[in-house]
Amino acid sequence: MKIAVIGANGQLGCDICSAFLADGHEVIPFNHDVMDITDLDRARAKLAEARPQVTINTAAMHNVEVCEAEPLKALKVNGLGARNLAILANELDFALFHISTDYVFDGRKKSPYIETDYPLPLNAYGNSKLCGENFVRSIALRHFVLRVSGLYGANPCRAKSGMNFVRLMLKLSRERDEVRVVDDEVLTPTFTEDIARQILALSKTSHYGLYHVTAQGSCSWHKFAAKIFELTGAKVRLQVADPNEFAAKVARPKYSALENRNLQEIQLDLMPSWETGLQNYLRKIGALY
Ligand SMILES: NC(=O)c1ccc[n+]([C@@H]2O[C@H](COP(=O)([O-])OP(=O)(O)OC[C@H]3O[C@@H](n4cnc5c(N)ncnc54)[C@H](OP(=O)(O)O)[C@@H]3O)[C@@H](O)[C@H]2O)c1
Repeated sequence: MKIAVIGANGQLGCDICSAFLADGHEVIPFNHDVMDITDLDRARAKLAEARPQVTINTAAMHNVEVCEAEPLKALKVNGLGARNLAILANELDFALFHISTDYVFDGRKKSPYIETDYPLPLNAYGNSKLCGENFVRSIALRHFVLRVSGLYGANPCRAKSGMNFVRLMLKLSRERDEVRVVDDEVLTPTFTEDIARQILALSKTSHYGLYHVTAQGSCSWHKFAAKIFELTGAKVRLQVADPNEFAAKVARPKYSALENRNLQEIQLDLMPSWETGLQNYLRKIGALY
């Protein structure tokens, strides 16, 4: 298959390119300097030239604080950019994968969210991503909308200065005797390679629709940090931070664990537990104890 990957040099985009290349597909990577998804005409020209059978959009404005400060820009990229690709999916006849987020939920449910749960974003980022989801779901005839959560991968996250939570914990454990992490935010951290493998599997089907694609289980940031230190043998004291110690400037869901219910229903849930994903990631970056 011929696959176009948008945001190809991003944290998730790099792993998607590698997964499809390793499976023998032709991959056409698009970085931001070549294709801006907010520019419909340019995106049309690039995709018409490439003629992909599948296009995977990982591009987003997803720094939560920046989105809150610039909500119209966030809406333009995450909402209207996704709409542009949905229009092109029909015009140019490709299946569209679009990456969304757990931040479409408000976190009040306290048990894993499934795809039919009502989204109610708390911030501009979540609102703009929900808008993008809705455009893709209502316009693109062949779409896969994937909600992911707490990404970490071997390639730098471009929107977050190259830093993911695992790398930050490893850095702090080298620099300090004590690290303090909040215990009141629960999610499912997910290794980007696992998502890439899941996308590859879905791309071989015509089970179009909305999917939660996260590792199995859930943990607080504190529990995740504890596992990181255990698996890397880091000699650092881990303490629970006071809920207001790192008071976030922007409201975020306190609970955003997702259940991969729709993947289970089509018997294609390949996602490992969050502990296994972390172990594989640490092995990959040479940090496993
Ligand atoms: N990271 C997380 O924890 C997390 C959690 C939940 C959901 N997500 C979602 O997962 C997806 C991938 O995240 P990631 O961590 O891989 O992000 P990333 O490393 O920041 O990569 C995003 C990519 O999108 C490109 N991009 C940004 N704006 C663009 C535009 N207008 N047109 C074309 N390309 C553009 C970026 O290029 P430049 O850097 O050159 O601008 C970059 O290549 C996003 O949709 C995000 O909303 C992420």
